[in-house]
Amino acid sequence: MKYRELGRTGWKVSEISFGAWAIGGAWGNVNDQESLAALHAALDGGVNFFDTADVYGDGRSERLMAKLRKERKEKFYVATKAGRRLNPHTADGYNRQNLTAFIERSLKNLDTNAIDLLQLHCPPTEVYYRPEVFGALDDLVKAGKLRHYGVSVEKVEEALKAIEFPGVQTVQIIFNIFRQRPAELFFAEAQRRKVGILARVPLASGLLSGKITRNSQFAKDDHRNFNRHGEAFDRGETFSGVDFETGLRAVEQLKKLVPAKATLAQLALRWILEFPAVTCAIPGAKRPAQVAENITASDLGPLSRATMKKIGAIYDAEIKPLVHSYW
Ligand SMILES: NC(=O)c1ccc[n+]([C@@H]2O[C@H](COP(=O)([O-])OP(=O)(O)OC[C@H]3O[C@@H](n4cnc5c(N)ncnc54)[C@H](OP(=O)(O)O)[C@@H]3O)[C@@H](O)[C@H]2O)c1
Repeated sequence: MKYRELGRTGWKVSEISFGAWAIGGAWGNVNDQESLAALHAALDGGVNFFDTADVYGDGRSERLMAKLRKERKEKFYVATKAGRRLNPHTADGYNRQNLTAFIERSLKNLDTNAIDLLQLHCPPTEVYYRPEVFGALDDLVKAGKLRHYGVSVEKVEEALKAIEFPGVQTVQIIFNIFRQRPAELFFAEAQRRKVGILARVPLASGLLSGKITRNSQFAKDDHRNFNRHGEAFDRGETFSGVDFETGLRAVEQLKKLVPAKATLAQLALRWILEFPAVTCAIPGAKRPAQVAENITASDLGPLSRATMKKIGAIYDAEIKPLVHSYW
């Protein structure tokens, strides 16, 4: 496993880290024993950074992180998120009082005195125009409740606005073979300001593992079933916002580019690591075998220029016209 510096935090985090949404909920049935085994496998493989949120399984994912902390001695970082407990989810809800309450709850779930990294959880765009929200986060850092804070965003424009606030250490954004726009302008700006980038949904919800077919069935409580068209939350979070059939067609072309002894999931993760502005990819995983496969991407050699070009051409032809301008 290789490590990269996370913004200005002074932390070195594993370039393949761990996304803990699926082990909380909204991805069909999961069992905590298997989830914990996946978390242990991640630590065994050198992962030292985990991304969760207060709403993943209504705290289940955070509580698993606390359990992992008890069972292991090595140092690792846990990033969580706040804001999505708001109902309705409005910009006004992102106020000092609510944020403080959400953070107190996460501290309990995580069984800790201070949160390593707190991210605003894809708030409405208007929140990025309210300096008082970031002022409240600065105060929570001063009070010792947060070590650092950052944002998770839907759109490149939100990311660009967020990094104008000097306390923002990280931006979490969808970045993968099917979502390439962040690399155009945002990455250079983030690098200039030394802001860490967490690449989320790196496997386009599993589509870029190559295992999903036209006949794949997803459980009722799996967002790949209930949010395919954005019925419950931003449609970009499910299959990266790519139309299912189009995605499957592009995957067939990508399979031809997989290096010898590698898998499509590893190619997809390696592609993300080719961008030095990215601090880490945070693939979700439910089982130790998925973790083992994903972390191996860090040890793959760089992709050839020819492969990068071919991936770019597949994106340009199949995916770009459908998604590029949305996020
Ligand atoms: N708004 C936000 O801030 C937000 C939104 C989305 C995600 N995130 C964060 O980003 C993380 C990653 O995104 P994601 O989990 O949505 O999507 P992802 O990482 O693109 O896909 C994860 C899913 O793909 C499948 N998978 C993983 N590794 C695999 C492998 N090697 N082979 C085959 N299948 C594999 C697993 O599901 P199955 O086994 O069920 O197929 C897994 O749950 C999340 O866990 C979360 O921490 C944040």
